[in-house]
Amino acid sequence: MTSTQDWDPRRYADHGRFVPELGQPVVELLAPRRGERILDLGCGDGALTEKLVAPGCVVVGVDGSAAQVEVARRRGLDARVVDAHALPFAAEFDAVFSNAALHWMPRQDAVHAGVWRALRPGGRFVAEMGGDGNIATIVAALERALRRRSVDPRTAVPWTFPKPGEYRALLEGQGFVVRSMEYFPRPTRLPGDLMGWLETFAGSFAAAVPEGERAAMLREVCDELRPKLCSSDGVWIADYVRLRFWVEKPGTRSGG
Ligand code: BEZ
Repeated sequence: MTSTQDWDPRRYADHGRFVPELGQPVVELLAPRRGERILDLGCGDGALTEKLVAPGCVVVGVDGSAAQVEVARRRGLDARVVDAHALPFAAEFDAVFSNAALHWMPRQDAVHAGVWRALRPGGRFVAEMGGDGNIATIVAALERALRRRSVDPRTAVPWTFPKPGEYRALLEGQGFVVRSMEYFPRPTRLPGDLMGWLETFAGSFAAAVPEGERAAMLREVCDELRPKLCSSDGVWIADYVRLRFWVEKPGTRSGG
């Protein structure tokens, strides 16, 4: 994640609660089993991490945001502030899980290398992230708003939304065996309005303009997108696209 994205746990609870709720199919793909040791990569406030603990797994959650980790710890979770590009674990997890976090990590090769190291032979990496075209309508409007202010949008986009073929090649390059990879649109109803979503997730775009212009810029984006993404009864639907995968680190599990 970029340094200009601040995670405000209260705002996230209001405008990002759907993120762990919609993560349930990824938990089902993981199929956590009692006694397994699982790393939740980008655990945020721990709402989904709890779902991995429930079946009796031993779960470590890591996240780059100290504020979110604090909330996760208050839930009683083992949550730690860790840079996902430098995971400090060695052959100690049966599985690495990640929901809606990988696209915040600019150096996927460093992340994959750390996941590989963290897994035991035979371990699995099950995750979902934004795929190519994710929130394209919103990104395009944000980019236009920056260009109108003579700001190069490339410096502000914090996300990586890969094509499935490219991502498969990256994972295979690390040595993983791909068991499944799905790529599909998932239009997503926002719990509030687009402004709430932008204030929660688009901090790096706002930070690219002087403070006094930020609110007006975000209002401009909302006004532009209302006819495209908001229904007549005020429901905002964002054009999410998902990349969901299950890969394995080859090898045979030894005991313990
Ligand atoms: C996502 O889950 O795809 C996402 C959420 C917030 C910002 C960007 C992408």
